Amino acid sequence: MLRELILRNRSARKYHQEVAVSRETLAELVDLARLSASGGNRQLLKYYLSCEPDKNAIIYSHIGLGGNPPEGERPSAYIIILSDTSLGVYGPGEVDQGIAAQSILSAQQNADWAAAWWAWYTARNYARC
Ligand SMILES: Cc1cc2nc3c(=O)[nH]c(=O)nc-3n(C[C@H](O)[C@H](O)[C@H](O)COP(=O)(O)O)c2cc1C
Repeated sequence: MLRELILRNRSARKYHQEVAVSRETLAELVDLARLSASGGNRQLLKYYLSCEPDKNAIIYSHIGLGGNPPEGERPSAYIIILSDTSLGVYGPGEVDQGIAAQSILSAQQNADWAAAWWAWYTARNYARC
């Protein structure tokens, strides 16, 4: 069961962009991330949700998705994981991001969705959203 979940948990390179994902669904996924482990229980992570085409377009312009899918085959929603530096700089913060992302990606596999990771170091560009 766990092995199957891990085997299916691949990084998608093509999406059904016309299939909408609701904000409520994204919030449910974030809830699972929120319940995951946090180094020192610092709970540094914040989440930015996007399921609106205009915001999605801005986000897409700042990520590098393998396969470079054309319009119509891009993600219809995003969850951006951020570390709140006002709560202090804490080494394992990036580990927390990885754990949260893995929780979200594992959960979406159960729903037969597709998703992928993107490196978070370009996050400062999302300030425009
Ligand atoms: C921390 C991290 C950052 C990643 N960043 C990107 C990225 O910027 N663009 C991308 O297309 N894939 C990204 N990936 C996905 C990897 O390329 C992918 O996991 C790897 O090629 C293995 O493929 P698989 O996930 O289908 O097994 C990232 C994965 C991780 C764990």
